Amino acid sequence: MQNSHSNVKHAALFEPGQAGGIAADNRIIMAPLTRSRAQQPGDVPNALNATYYGQRAGAGFIITEATQISREGKGYAWTPGIYTPEQVAGWKLVTNEVHNNGGKIVLQLWHVGRISHPVFQKDEGKPVAPSAIRPDGDAFVADYHPDGPVVPFVEPRALEVSEIPRLLQDYVHAARCAKDAGFDGVEIHAANGYLLDQFLQSSTNQRDDAYGGSAENRMRLLGEVVDAVLSVWPADQVGVRLSPLGAMNDISDDNPGVLFPAVAEKLSGRGLAYLHIVRATEEVDGIQQVRDESVAIIADMQKAFDGALLVCGGFSPQEAASWVEEQKCDFTVFGKLFLANPDLPQRFSQDGPYNEPNPKTFYGGGSEGYTDYSKLSEEERRKAA
Ligand code: PHB
Repeated sequence: MQNSHSNVKHAALFEPGQAGGIAADNRIIMAPLTRSRAQQPGDVPNALNATYYGQRAGAGFIITEATQISREGKGYAWTPGIYTPEQVAGWKLVTNEVHNNGGKIVLQLWHVGRISHPVFQKDEGKPVAPSAIRPDGDAFVADYHPDGPVVPFVEPRALEVSEIPRLLQDYVHAARCAKDAGFDGVEIHAANGYLLDQFLQSSTNQRDDAYGGSAENRMRLLGEVVDAVLSVWPADQVGVRLSPLGAMNDISDDNPGVLFPAVAEKLSGRGLAYLHIVRATEEVDGIQQVRDESVAIIADMQKAFDGALLVCGGFSPQEAASWVEEQKCDFTVFGKLFLANPDLPQRFSQDGPYNEPNPKTFYGGGSEGYTDYSKLSEEERRKAA
């Protein structure tokens, strides 16, 4: 929507934009959100998932929920995969529905690494990781385990160097499946303490081979995964997600202010569509606030990277518009607000009102709290016009 109406609110969010080869009608991106509603057995997307994504096609583009590239990459009950013919057929329902509604959708390629559990692994094997370091916390196993829904994480096993080509092949296969399913691009998930982030950050990577030690070595696997995915997709349809200072999944780095801009630089010069960065927040007096250090790192990453920048994390529409206006990023990404408001761009354009997200229906279940959040009625839209 160009600003044909002078009274459109948060106007900067309604300028069309390009994330590499992905053309977006606005700067309002739907965040990847785990919803744990894939059909079982087989982790297969279904018609209900297609309805949910189709309802949200007004986003500049949608990034799917994190989607495992292989059985080994799975870490949560009922999340979808992108490596079997059934999953490809299921995702086709989703991409068709989004495209029929005029939207675009990018698939997020996910390997959880040590944030898995033997119940999800072949022969109940140990999850794989850069190093055999057990994460603090619990795996969401639901009814896969008699003690579910959550059980403590286990110690993972360190990937052998000889297994890396097979891992890269898994990424290639999943990237190809995503292409077959009709997506507009793929996003490589290297954030939030999952496998690629485990390799990047020093607390989880204690290797002393070519994949550990120096920052250069810790970035190696991510670089190889990007190359692998670029063997299937044009670079300008591939994004990467990173989360400097993110505390999720028991991860940290000795020197994040150096590491993450170095990652951005390493990813630069390849013609990638975008970097997607999660802002780190902390609670101050009971209120979630963005960490100043996180904002500084994002600015350094922006300087080091030559593609579009997406930023996610606790934005109000006002703040999002100011970030775009001040060119601190190109696109802003919304999770919970989009989950509860399928027509979020329309609501931003008229400054609300907003539905409240219900955390009880975030994970698992059916249409309740999934496809039954309302859009504004014609009357409510007219009132604002
Ligand atoms: C989750 O399932 O809770 C989840 C998945 C991927 C993320 C973050 C959280 O990046």
